[in-house]
Amino acid sequence: MDNAKTILCIGAGYVGGPTMAVIADKCTDYKVIVVDLNKERIDGWNSDKLPIFEPGLDEVVKRARGRNLFFTTDVAASIKEASIIFVSVNTPTKTFGEGAGMAADLQYWEKTARAIIEHAEDDKIVIEKSTLPVKTAEAMHRILESNDKGLHFDVISNPEFMAEGTAVDDLRNPDRVLIGAMETERGQKALKRIVDIYSCWVPAEKIKTTNVWSSELSKLVANAMLAQRISSINSISALCEKTEAEINDVSDAIGMDSRIGAKFLKAGVGFGGSCFKKDILNLVYLCKHYGLPEVADYWEQVVKMNDFQETRFVRRVIKNMFNTVAGKKIALFGFAFKANTGDTREAPAIYISKMLLDEHASLSIYDPEALDNAKIDLADQEGDIEFVNDPYECAEDAHAILIITEWDEFKNYDYSKILKSMKKPAFIFDGRNILNHKELFELGFNVSPLGSPDMLNL
Ligand code: NAD
Ligand code: UGA
Repeated sequence: MDNAKTILCIGAGYVGGPTMAVIADKCTDYKVIVVDLNKERIDGWNSDKLPIFEPGLDEVVKRARGRNLFFTTDVAASIKEASIIFVSVNTPTKTFGEGAGMAADLQYWEKTARAIIEHAEDDKIVIEKSTLPVKTAEAMHRILESNDKGLHFDVISNPEFMAEGTAVDDLRNPDRVLIGAMETERGQKALKRIVDIYSCWVPAEKIKTTNVWSSELSKLVANAMLAQRISSINSISALCEKTEAEINDVSDAIGMDSRIGAKFLKAGVGFGGSCFKKDILNLVYLCKHYGLPEVADYWEQVVKMNDFQETRFVRRVIKNMFNTVAGKKIALFGFAFKANTGDTREAPAIYISKMLLDEHASLSIYDPEALDNAKIDLADQEGDIEFVNDPYECAEDAHAILIITEWDEFKNYDYSKILKSMKKPAFIFDGRNILNHKELFELGFNVSPLGSPDMLNL
């Protein structure tokens, strides 16, 4: 196959895997290689049990794999072969040195740039797929151009907006594809080659091109604005619990205003996921760096409100259960940071579990997809924790059930059977407002919907 139509993606994670699978599926005249240093992950991508759970992904991968989609650990050979290189490695929050706890840790990103220099034998287009601080492309371009082989690299920003759980649909029907390029002749030529890839299936009006800096910054801002909506509605859920207003009604009422819109107004136990918190903190760090402390404080409050929401949820559990959960079995329904994924990165369940363990509660945890990750997340925790594969067993002899993730299946359980098996008085704290609270209350549960007053049978 023509080297101009060979794409490589470095990083076979939640973004690299699904994104490249959809590109290969839609653009059959391109060869798409995905490389990762993690052999277990690559073996997973080459097997029947993919390393991530994502609805619809199995079919897409099966259709393209071995045809024009390949997963490998051979970094050197794949860099040599491709002329277009997407970089989708992890960019976590820095845990050391300057900017620790806030700035993005760019070490994985820089290592890939150095690997590209080492193995490249011709000019390449290098695309930032990872979420990066604004101005990273400038540093990247300098590093790449420092090669002593006389090679030229064009750096393009093409941030990803898919959400987990709906990744395949989001990638097939994106609201927009954003591509930022340098405003030079070379930059614009490179931009056209990336536009050509997406044009295989994305309508032209949905492909937005900008300069690199706007593209990099837009990604951080999109996540910050989405998270801000969640923190805003969560802050109001606290007020609802004090005033007999109901958060779902408030969300519906304000969401019907077309200027506000209905999406991302669901109050819950707090936002999780690998990106919202890290990207906002990254934005906060950038604002501080550029001497804008007021702007930094404004955005930091979104994260603080999220921490408050997680803590507030646990405080309500303890208060309603007669101010102590010590020695009581608490059933957690759900551990993933959202439904339809097994991902638990930054999941509110982790913080909620730790707070309850600090109070000496005994935890029983059920999740349809995330138990393996939950075990890893809580591996260092002392205390009584069990992970069970059956929700009925999870709730047996429990004093309370906490709904932490909005899995559909939780709505369809036989709660009268569950109630019979629980210790009395039995409590349900619906952290996602997905259950029928009136019915549960009438069955005899003490129900605490998030953002609405308690419904107590005591
Ligand atoms: P991930 O941790 O699932 O995957 C990253 C992969 O990169 C890992 O498998 C790791 O082994 C690999 N890697 C790291 N360094 C490497 C190197 N030098 N060579 C080869 N492989 C290397 O991360 P992710 O969730 O896919 O996120 C990747 C980026 O995309 C992040 O910047 C994130 O902010 C952004 N993003 C994530 C999502 C999401 O839903 N998860 C959505 C949009 C954007
Ligand atoms: C989010 C963005 O939605 C994507 O556009 C972006 O590409 C991605 O981050 C990223 O950069 O990683 P994701 O984290 O996968 O996607 O999932 P979301 O659907 O955004 O949910 C994030 C968290 O917010 C979840 O914990 C979810 O339960 C919570 N949430 C979401 C609410 O509490 N209320 C809502 O109304 C919506």
